[in-house]
Amino acid sequence: MTAPTFDDFVNRLDDSLVVVTTASDDQRAGCVVGFHSQCSIEPARYAVWLSKANLTYRMALFASHIAVHAITDADRPLFELFGGTSGDRTEKFALCEWSVGPGGVPLLDECPSRMVLEVTSRLDDGSDHVCFVGVPVEIELGAPSTPMRLSSSASTAAGHEPTERTTPSELTASETSVEHRDAMDDARRRELENAAAGAGHAIDLGAIDLQDDEPDRRGTS
Ligand SMILES: Cc1cc2nc3c(=O)[nH]c(=O)nc-3n(C[C@H](O)[C@H](O)[C@H](O)COP(=O)(O)O)c2cc1C
Repeated sequence: MTAPTFDDFVNRLDDSLVVVTTASDDQRAGCVVGFHSQCSIEPARYAVWLSKANLTYRMALFASHIAVHAITDADRPLFELFGGTSGDRTEKFALCEWSVGPGGVPLLDECPSRMVLEVTSRLDDGSDHVCFVGVPVEIELGAPSTPMRLSSSASTAAGHEPTERTTPSELTASETSVEHRDAMDDARRRELENAAAGAGHAIDLGAIDLQDDEPDRRGTS
């Protein structure tokens, strides 16, 4: 019998998934997060770990607040939007309903159970995720619900591989980045419109200049 692996143990825990959002100036970002936990009782503290590959991480570095939204299996379209696409290529907040919370953080209308954290510290231990710790400043609870778990996420490929890194030249050379982007094809546009419709929103992406080169990859970050 082969020895169990790290993945075997983590899969056995079957952690819940949340959507984390954040904002800096008038820009917003958000992604699905499986790495999150209460990390202090008194004073209350909560931690989320963001992948260095993600736009959400890059924006959170400049943000005062982050919001943690509970999701259920019924939130599949939202899960796919926030976990399967990257804000580097898709304007996620044009595809869902949201309102502005403390520090400008976007609060997702579809997720009534949510908590806003004021970021108190960040910890980078040199791995591919960075820990953001915060103090809860606003908490809202919807009806009791069962969280979506890692085990129901298998068919969705993350918008970024954890090993991906955006270089400074990619961030500044916008013409070069655009050159490498493919225009959103009709099938992908329909897919996103259907996902948004599933979340209860009628949208027309034909009017929005979106780019799509979401690759077909598997991974959790
Ligand atoms: C099941 C699942 C779990 C994930 N867990 C995390 C996580 O804990 N932290 C994180 O930063 N990204 C996590 N991701 C990856 C991001 O949600 C994903 O790469 C997203 O597309 C990034 O979007 P962004 O570039 O707009 O931030 C997870 C994705 C999935 C599908």
